[in-house]
Amino acid sequence: MPFYHLPVLMQEVLEALQPQKGKLIFDGTLGGGGHSEALLQHGARVVAMDQDEEAIKHASARLKPYGERFCALRGNFRHFPQIIEETGISGFDGMLIDIGVSSHQLDDAARGFSFMRDAPLDMRMDTDAEQTAADIVNTASDEELTRIFFDYGEEQNARRIARAIVKARSSRLITTTMQLAEIVSTASPKRGKRHPATLVFQALRIAVNDELAALRDFLAAAPKWLKPGGRLAVITFHSLEDRIVKQTLAHLAAPQLDRPEWPAPRPNPDHFLTLVTKKPIEASADETALNPRARSARLRVAERLPAAP
Ligand SMILES: C[S@@+](CC[C@H](N)C(=O)[O-])C[C@H]1O[C@@H](n2cnc3c(N)ncnc32)[C@H](O)[C@@H]1O
Repeated sequence: MPFYHLPVLMQEVLEALQPQKGKLIFDGTLGGGGHSEALLQHGARVVAMDQDEEAIKHASARLKPYGERFCALRGNFRHFPQIIEETGISGFDGMLIDIGVSSHQLDDAARGFSFMRDAPLDMRMDTDAEQTAADIVNTASDEELTRIFFDYGEEQNARRIARAIVKARSSRLITTTMQLAEIVSTASPKRGKRHPATLVFQALRIAVNDELAALRDFLAAAPKWLKPGGRLAVITFHSLEDRIVKQTLAHLAAPQLDRPEWPAPRPNPDHFLTLVTKKPIEASADETALNPRARSARLRVAERLPAAP
């Protein structure tokens, strides 16, 4: 099978989820199926999900030898409770998400994720979704574009780039990756090694796929789907996402909540988890040498509290 995606932090994920015969694990970001395959090789059953039809097709073919121990469902992990409910499953021993795009999605020019390749400005992971990157770039207001580039890309020249886009699109719609990359490069010339359009493309991808809201929805629902002692493992690739994971897990692991206006702390109704990792796990030097993409990966793990006696 052609190269699709090299999974990150593989050993660390296996240590976190401890797959073995008799365990049922949810992989919410199937991608090329690398993590799922390792979980299967250790004897676990895996229910996987991806919103990208191509990923489902590719990984299902790859994992066919595991027969009924593997099942792939197409969908957004933010909606996993509704999708999983239909299978009759009520809980998992482990849950994993490894978010962002796969190398295959980035490398496939036609998907429009990369400023290195000329293609329609698309960026949808789910090709049935309505809104493409071109839709946003050609219709969002100056303020909205600035907010997207600043909030999701932490792009310091967000306002200048947004203005340049609005000006350019008034004479000709922006429909391709190269057209956008050129407008951004002219408005905000290169500083350092990074291509000037890097952060704008990252921000647009997050907006097109509503990635931060999907992460929040998943984290809100996942703890209730873990069996007592079951583990949640989340891999992120940039600080915005890692911050959301860190803060949400901290909330779910706090026995009590306190506010200045309360006379005393109160029990936290969302106290489902205990933290396994206080600090995120990062890739080793050996792994980053082999797979530069792993450099920004952060893994956080939490465990569902034991059943009440
Ligand atoms: C980094 S890759 C996962 C790689 C995978 N762990 C492997 O070993 O090959 C991310 C995958 O998650 C999918 N994805 C990202 N966000 C998603 C979401 N909200 N719901 C479902 N799938 C999502 C993407 O389509 C992509 O295939």
